[in-house]
Amino acid sequence: MTIPIIIDCDPGHDDAIAILLALAHPEQLQIKGITTVGGNQTLEKITNNALKILSFVDTDIPVAKGAKGPLLGTLVTGEEAHGESGMDGPVLPPSRFRPIETGAVEFIREILLASDEPVTLVPIGPLTNIATLIRAYPELKSRIAGISLMGGGIAYGNVTRTAEFNIYVDPEAAQIVFESGIPITMSGLDVTDKAAIFDDEIEALKTRGPVSVLVGELLDFYSIFGKKMGYHGNALHDPCAIAWLLQPQLFQSKMLDVTVETQGIYTRGMTVGDLRTKTDRQPNVNVLMDVDRDAFIRLLFDALAILDARYVQQASQGES
Ligand code: RIB
Ligand code: CA
Repeated sequence: MTIPIIIDCDPGHDDAIAILLALAHPEQLQIKGITTVGGNQTLEKITNNALKILSFVDTDIPVAKGAKGPLLGTLVTGEEAHGESGMDGPVLPPSRFRPIETGAVEFIREILLASDEPVTLVPIGPLTNIATLIRAYPELKSRIAGISLMGGGIAYGNVTRTAEFNIYVDPEAAQIVFESGIPITMSGLDVTDKAAIFDDEIEALKTRGPVSVLVGELLDFYSIFGKKMGYHGNALHDPCAIAWLLQPQLFQSKMLDVTVETQGIYTRGMTVGDLRTKTDRQPNVNVLMDVDRDAFIRLLFDALAILDARYVQQASQGES
């Protein structure tokens, strides 16, 4: 059964890998569109990065630009981790594709109205576009099957001790999404930090086909920040939100009542999970807590092998 999805992203090294993982499995995930949001870098830069990735694998999926920054305040980028371009490391050729004229929120609305079945949203950047859609068109919630997002962390943050980047950038948007009543599966740091790829696996990628090599080179750059932060291995944050859709059995999760703190001095942007057994609120979020890391890496390697073969076939057809 193919799941129709929309990926909302801020590429971003791990966003790019998440998009590639989804592209490898059209028999399971039908990408109806990609929307972009200011986050890891400015909207222009991350939109350009999304288009470059699609062009590299010769896949023309509509890309619509969304919010430049959060609902309140100014954009805090992830330049320290993702570099000046937002996807530093390998030099990709200019994209042959351009973004569509329609804005992200209106594009998502068009897709939802046109789809003959509810669509799954996969936000892997700040939640500004998704919150704006929910506020502007609450009646469309019934056309959203669910949200598989990368963001948050019950145990800890990565920008502050309590807040993870995607939530930290736009806590007000995150609160709107988490309070929306739409079924949410949250790939927070509790699971994504366990979904780590190690140096020897990155080296192995660079001995394989062109798409695998690209991912290896992306990870070479992305792991610089991880090492600086003392991480063991390179957390593949955003691909978890796609991997859960592809193989949910790789993950362990628990239903929690999760809300987003927007006021705290030390906790603004924190996804506050209630781990007590008895509360007066119903759990609203399926929080991923653990992953079979080896199987997750196999899923990624197998997906990249599919894209490598497709790349070589397209290249040979282009020459003939
Ligand atoms: O905290 C990890 C998240 O922040 C990922 O989505 C990564 O792309 C960055 O945006
Ligand atoms: Ca991201």
